[in-house]
Amino acid sequence: MKTALIILGAGMGTRMNSELPKVLHPIGGAPMLVHAMRAGAALSPEKTVIVAGHGAEAVSRAALAYDPEAQTVLQVEQLGTAHAVAQAGDALTGFDGDAIVLYGDTPFISAETLEAMAKARTSHDIVVLGFEAADAGRYGRLVTQGDVLERIVEFKDATDEERSIKLCNSGVISAKSSMLFDLIEAVKNDNASGEYYLTDIIGIARAKGLSATVVRCDEAETLGINSRAELIAAEADFQARARAAAIEDGVTLLAPETVFFAYDTYLGRDAIIEQNVVFGPNVTVETGATIRAFSHLEGCHVSRGATVGPYARLRPGAELQENVHVGNFVEIKNAILAEGAKANHLTYIGDADIGARTNIGAGTITCNYDGVFKHRTTIGADAFIGSNTMLVAPVTVGDQAMTATGTVVTENIPNGDLAVGRARQENKTGLAVKMFEKLKAVKAKRVKDQ
Ligand code: UD1
Ligand code: CA
Repeated sequence: MKTALIILGAGMGTRMNSELPKVLHPIGGAPMLVHAMRAGAALSPEKTVIVAGHGAEAVSRAALAYDPEAQTVLQVEQLGTAHAVAQAGDALTGFDGDAIVLYGDTPFISAETLEAMAKARTSHDIVVLGFEAADAGRYGRLVTQGDVLERIVEFKDATDEERSIKLCNSGVISAKSSMLFDLIEAVKNDNASGEYYLTDIIGIARAKGLSATVVRCDEAETLGINSRAELIAAEADFQARARAAAIEDGVTLLAPETVFFAYDTYLGRDAIIEQNVVFGPNVTVETGATIRAFSHLEGCHVSRGATVGPYARLRPGAELQENVHVGNFVEIKNAILAEGAKANHLTYIGDADIGARTNIGAGTITCNYDGVFKHRTTIGADAFIGSNTMLVAPVTVGDQAMTATGTVVTENIPNGDLAVGRARQENKTGLAVKMFEKLKAVKAKRVKDQ
């Protein structure tokens, strides 16, 4: 069955107290909207339509960054969830598959749940995702008879008897796309909120003799985020699940509660992650690599047997091949370190290619930025870069080349050559002793004069 996702995210999100549209607040380094899109990706959607309102341009950019084919439609006035879905109508004209409505502020719906809904759709016209709430609070209530969903009643409009129902509406709803838009046309706003409720389509559908049912999921999946406090709690839940999943996958986490994951962190089996490590987006750490304490990684790839840290920073485009060593206070950005290369202390490597087994001495810096442009440094295999070498890019260092300590490299170094580029040292016989005597005399005079 072909599927279209409709993701609602036009709401103001007043309780976030933020300039940023609610659905762009991040969890695990990705906007919650992207989590909803990723959840929906389980259904291999043909189309994705985001309904945006506040900050629609920023919402559209975030959606496109994740899925270049996602469409964003504008809901100028937020007149209710049915009105929101109606805004996706034009984008889905002629689409002959299913449509499923998700909320941009409900990031944790699982693939299994969406698959269960798709399965239920094979025998019912409309499928609603419900859950048994520990505290049903102000959720809409699902009025059922056996397997049949009769209608949904919003809390504000519910009788005491209806409010006692524990089965709540998550908001996720699925039906044939054309049918969904037909049903929405019949929705009115004569209710306690004066809004067009998407939930009303169930009663309308049943009156027409269509069938509706409920698929249930865990309450944690339908967690909606309305405030910063809820966002923090959702982040904590996300981290707890990410840590548990990594441990389950055979990763060694020495202190799991101090390791922070991004939504897409990939850690191979028997990778070792020490204490206080932060993963930003787009990190892969292969089997058997070690990330030592207090390291920060984003947008990078760490191959088998490599070690990173303690106190290392890998920035986007850092590619560490097998058995590379990156030590303390080393920063690497947009650079490839070939197999067995080492940069163990106090180094910045940016926009560079470092050959296999090459050793980068302490304090080495690739001077990659001239104030306007970035330039590349290329170093061959089996080279030895002396401590405190400044590599003024663009520059190439050959295989088995060496630089003397303190060299400022401004010209290419051929294979096998040693480059020395520093002021020649001169020793002044006995001058140190004379200097000390002179300074001590000055000090003694000052003390006496006080
Ligand atoms: C909605 C459901 C309720 C359910 C609850 C689950 C309706 C009428 N009620 O209530 O049954 O238990 O979600 O959380 O559907 N939105 C728009 N445009 C609008 C209105 C809403 O894009 O005009 C978006 C919001 O940004 C949000 C989502 O739709 O992502 C839900 O809207 P919200 O106002 O939070 O609905 P609830 O009143 O919580
Ligand atoms: Ca809500």
